[in-house]
Amino acid sequence: MSKRVAIFISGGGSNMLKLLESMTGDHPARPCVVLSNDPMARGLELAEARGVPTEVVRHEPFKGDRVAFEHAISGAIAPHAPDIICLAGFMRKLTESFVDPWRGRMLNIHPSLLPKYRGLNTHARALAAGDPVHGCTVHQVTPQLDDGPILGQAQVPVLAEDTADSLAARVLAQEHLLYPAVLRRFAAGDHRPILLR
Ligand code: GRF
Repeated sequence: MSKRVAIFISGGGSNMLKLLESMTGDHPARPCVVLSNDPMARGLELAEARGVPTEVVRHEPFKGDRVAFEHAISGAIAPHAPDIICLAGFMRKLTESFVDPWRGRMLNIHPSLLPKYRGLNTHARALAAGDPVHGCTVHQVTPQLDDGPILGQAQVPVLAEDTADSLAARVLAQEHLLYPAVLRRFAAGDHRPILLR
C-alpha cells in the first residue's frame, strides 16, 4: 500500500511541487495533504491546483506557546492520516513533543552540506567562508535544528562570481532533484544516503 505523505511549507513551495510531481506511477508514496503556517503561501495554490488537500495553521495566535501550535498542526493533519511528513521550506521550529512521535518518519531539506551551516543565511555563510563546494541535505528530523541522520546530499561548486542569490538558485535546482530522489527511496524503506554531484 502507498505511503501517505504530508508536506509542510511556509512559502513558495517549489520543493513541495517537485515532491508532488514525483509521486505518480510506481512511486511508493502519494501526497495526502499540504500544510502551511502562512495562509498566503503560494505553495497552497499550487497544491490545490493539483487536487491535493491543504490545511492552514497560523502560528501567530499561538505566540509563545509552540506546543499548542503543534497540537493544532497534529489536529489538522490527523484526518489525512499521513505516514511520512516532509518539511519543505517550513520556517517554524518544531519541539520535541511534535518531533518525537514522528521520529524516523519526518524528513527535512536544508540548503547546506550539513553539518555545516545549520540555521539561516547558509549561502552567504558558505561564500564568506570561501568554501569551494556548497549544496543541500535531506535528513531525518530530530529535536535538534537541522540535525538528524542524513539521507542525501547534493554538491554544488561555488563559482568566483557567485553572490548569495546566484548560489541559492543553483542549490535550489539541486534540491529539486535530491528531495524527490530521497523520498522515493525512503518511502520504499531504503535509508541509504544518496549523493548527487
Ligand atoms: C529551500 O531552499 C529550502 O531548502 C529552505 O527554504 C527554501 C524553500 O524553498 N529550507 P521552496 O519553498 O521549496 O521554494
